[in-house]
Amino acid sequence: MADSPSAFSVAHGKESSAPIYRLDTAAFAVALQRASDLDELAAMAHDCDRCGLRAGCRTVVFGEGNPRARLLLVGEGPGATEDAMGRPFVGKAGELLDRILEAAGFHRADVYIANVVMCRPPGNRVPTPEEMSACRPYLERRLALVDPPLIVALGATATRALLRPNARITQERGRWHRVDGRWVMPTYHPAALLRDPSKKKAVWDDFQLVREFYRRLS
Ligand code: URA
Repeated sequence: MADSPSAFSVAHGKESSAPIYRLDTAAFAVALQRASDLDELAAMAHDCDRCGLRAGCRTVVFGEGNPRARLLLVGEGPGATEDAMGRPFVGKAGELLDRILEAAGFHRADVYIANVVMCRPPGNRVPTPEEMSACRPYLERRLALVDPPLIVALGATATRALLRPNARITQERGRWHRVDGRWVMPTYHPAALLRDPSKKKAVWDDFQLVREFYRRLS
């Protein structure tokens, strides 16, 4: 919790009502580790203003899905519909993502859906490296809590966030990458498919690989 005395007391050995996001970096990291489930982490996130994005959006879109999902998808950041509804991937790109998932044999409720940043960047611009860094501890803690063996990076921003800053989606998509003990499959973002339907075949192929690996894990 953002104002959680227990989290603060871990960081400082005493109780206080200081908001977690105002703690220094080390204390913030300790407080994050204290979040023992997704609800606690979401409560912290909803009270966060570690970067300028929070001031310009309506709500923090934490993410949603199966807390024990074996497949976690990472997008870029909320758009207007997501910001209005407080849920990830519920606009046009989200509708397409649902169809992609179904076509690959997944139910949305079985997977977990997150974003590189939880607050909508103004005008849907790409989040800056500073904004991505500010949000990153939340993504990392969520990965630790959900602990999915498989991750799909949706689009260039997620691919750069998960692989390396200069990674190129055109080169990295379609094959598995081992990252911190998990397997990451980069593929095109659904919004890119809406702009350029010729990318559909590639995404279909990528999700077949995901499905195959997922089945082998079962
Ligand atoms: N695009 C994203 O990257 N994430 C969302 O949640 C919605 C659209």
